[in-house]
Amino acid sequence: MWTRKSLKELISDKLKDHLFVVASNREPYIHKYSRDKIIHFQPASGVVTALDPVLQTCNGIWVAHGSGDADKKVVDEKSRIKVPPEDPKYTLKRVWINKEEETGYYYGFSNEALWPLCHIVYTKPKFSESDWNYYQKINERFAQAILEEIDQKNALIFLQDYHLTLVPKIIKKANPNAKIALFWHIPWPNPEVFRICPWRKEILEGLLSADLLGFHIHYHADNFLETVNNELEAKVDKIASSVVYGGTKTLVRPYPISIDYEKIAKEAASGEIAADIEKVKEELGITGELIGVGTDRIDYTKGIIEKFEAIDRFLEQYPEFQGRFVYIQIGSLSRIHLDTYKKLNDEINGLVERINWKYSSDSWSPIIFIRKYFTPHQLLAIFRMANICLISALHDGMNLVAKEYVAAAPDNKGMLVLSRFTGAARELTDAITFNPFQPEDCAEAIKTALSLPEKERKQRMKKMKAIVRENNIYSWSGKIIEALLKLS
Ligand code: G6P
Repeated sequence: MWTRKSLKELISDKLKDHLFVVASNREPYIHKYSRDKIIHFQPASGVVTALDPVLQTCNGIWVAHGSGDADKKVVDEKSRIKVPPEDPKYTLKRVWINKEEETGYYYGFSNEALWPLCHIVYTKPKFSESDWNYYQKINERFAQAILEEIDQKNALIFLQDYHLTLVPKIIKKANPNAKIALFWHIPWPNPEVFRICPWRKEILEGLLSADLLGFHIHYHADNFLETVNNELEAKVDKIASSVVYGGTKTLVRPYPISIDYEKIAKEAASGEIAADIEKVKEELGITGELIGVGTDRIDYTKGIIEKFEAIDRFLEQYPEFQGRFVYIQIGSLSRIHLDTYKKLNDEINGLVERINWKYSSDSWSPIIFIRKYFTPHQLLAIFRMANICLISALHDGMNLVAKEYVAAAPDNKGMLVLSRFTGAARELTDAITFNPFQPEDCAEAIKTALSLPEKERKQRMKKMKAIVRENNIYSWSGKIIEALLKLS
């Protein structure tokens, strides 16, 4: 089993002659003005949760968009700063992007074209030539920032996600010796869906310049191979799961991302958390005896509307739970400059209001919707007091909240209620799964989870905990680093 220690050993043993560079759009630490003081925080992102511990172990470089309003104030002349700021362990190099560029590259092509294209939730992608031009320009900038850092060093470069598809090609052209992996954190759709993208050839050519491409699950890796087969004159080997294109061989592999199980489980079981539970209950005014929880970025792929409609159905169908069941939804605002996200936020407010009005009595309301920031400790306290965690994503590459909940929940109490269309549902087969597009199915899943006999609940939780414990974040990064080392 991979542990923090074995990953550390791999890194100090085998990675020491290499420079390890990670690049992602979202940075792991953001500096912001709060009145006249500069504060820093970590954004809500699975990528950051997964990779920050790795970088802390190997003293590498993380290249990312400097998006905080105080980011420029704290960096050196090469736009670099040592992080974590309170205990520096690695270098964060910031890439600067102005508002116009951000509108085209990030809000536009990344999140209005590629995001809806890859998540099959029936939101139509928007393809704009001008967004695409900005996307190319910013990919070029990321590549130059990386090249500046690697110079002639023996570098292993680990790129993240759909924002940076063109970077591998640019880097390889300038430095053919660099070894590159790119991990795709979202689903890869089937070829029928992907073929509507006007710049599919450029994107596939960019990706196929990497030596290794990672997806969460086999199904997405297969979809990718199938897409390449349909779109390019490439040699696709489905058995070996590799592609040869333009003289470069790319391995295509599934690596399910995960969490630091031991750390979360230990913290969640600590006495401090037990004390926090009472505080949080009081602060949220929780009166129900059965608690459900969910925490998501407010994004249409997360199925928050569908989840609330299912809770409505559940309370209607099973009135004996009225007055007894409370659902806590924590939501972090996301991509709010896009109309779809703004509208979704308003729609959620309206729906919560309607459902709470319909059922509330005395001091009880069924849904508590909170946009406030919770510390990781408070979140663990909420996970620990919850009888169920309800994840209703309409389509999701993995979903790390599912795994965090499994690690944190007491095994004799919790139960995971999980959308069938998340990558996590393929691994956590002991969860109660449902189709989030069908409110009745989700309502039944809630009922089943809340009514499971204790023995069965314990058994299911135990099995899920064992899976997350074994397939932890160190195994995700360890396996990818091992594969990259082999290639170099
Ligand atoms: C998903 C993506 C990440 C992204 C995160 C948060 O998990 O795969 O690349 O960082 O969402 O979204 P944001 O747009 O705020 O970075």
